[in-house]
Amino acid sequence: TDGLNIRAVAAGKQYFGSATDNGELSNSAYLSGLSNTADFGQITPGNSMKWDSIEPSRGSFSYSGGDTIQQLAVKNGQKLRCHTLVWHSQLPNWVSNGGFDNATLISVMKNHITNEMTHYKGKCFHWDVVNEALNEDGTFRSSVFYNTIGPAFIPIAFATAASVDPDAKLYYNDYNTENAGSKSTGAQNIVKLIKQYGAKIDGVGFQSHFIVGSTPSQSAQVSNMNAFVSLGVEVAITELDIRTNTPATSSAVAQQAKDYAATIGACKAVAKCVGVTIWDYTDKYSWIPGVFSGQGSALPWDDNLNKKTDIYNAILNAW
Ligand code: XIL
Repeated sequence: TDGLNIRAVAAGKQYFGSATDNGELSNSAYLSGLSNTADFGQITPGNSMKWDSIEPSRGSFSYSGGDTIQQLAVKNGQKLRCHTLVWHSQLPNWVSNGGFDNATLISVMKNHITNEMTHYKGKCFHWDVVNEALNEDGTFRSSVFYNTIGPAFIPIAFATAASVDPDAKLYYNDYNTENAGSKSTGAQNIVKLIKQYGAKIDGVGFQSHFIVGSTPSQSAQVSNMNAFVSLGVEVAITELDIRTNTPATSSAVAQQAKDYAATIGACKAVAKCVGVTIWDYTDKYSWIPGVFSGQGSALPWDDNLNKKTDIYNAILNAW
């Protein structure tokens, strides 16, 4: 048999994978597609391991949603990327509006990381430790973590994570960092900052939520990845989707196939790019239409779970 993950592995990568989450698993056709390891050798929970799901009130941890995805990965023999520990979004009010002082917020953050990573110790091959800490101009985003702790919240989070599960690869993950520019430079500075503090960072994730026709070229993505690899980290494409206005025109679909191929080709070309994850595999469960009004049709399977042959084959053959 053949498939997206089989081709990725044949190209020397660790996996091709998909995001998923609990609400979708009751759809048996969806579940069987997701569980087909010819296509998907890795899964990421889209929501269930975020702070608001895991620790909705202080010190009260709820793992059932995350465990469902973790157990599915084990059952299917898929790698698990765990997402995400420290993020300004999907963060409960008790953290964002808690009015904690510096020392208390550091301890709240360390306690969250320690509890969640201990629960999943040995089960996550990657952890997105910090997500989306940057503004578009490469400066630090205003968040309760940055505003209270300063830039040190990032290395503190990574040092805590490394102490809990030394075997997990620890990632910084962000979007609009896939191309050279201020935000990519900002992310490179985060890698340097973590290392300057003496903490460990293993990888940088490029979310890669792209727009048809303005996806960075393969060569631009390769040289950007190489700038990170030079700093001593691996890289991964963590949340790939390529959106268009809906309904998609045939010329948009043809361009999406090229944009997907350019992105896969970039990961293929960079030895330290370890794998690619799409942000769910079917338009039926894509986050795009809910957030970007009038856009969607961003994934290789349509709303009816049918493969879009042109896009699927473009990915397959780009590996
Ligand atoms: C999205 C989920 O897919 C949605 O279901 C949720 O409503 C919002 O978050 N960057 C990230 C992901 O790192 O966690 C986001 O996932 C998409 C953008």
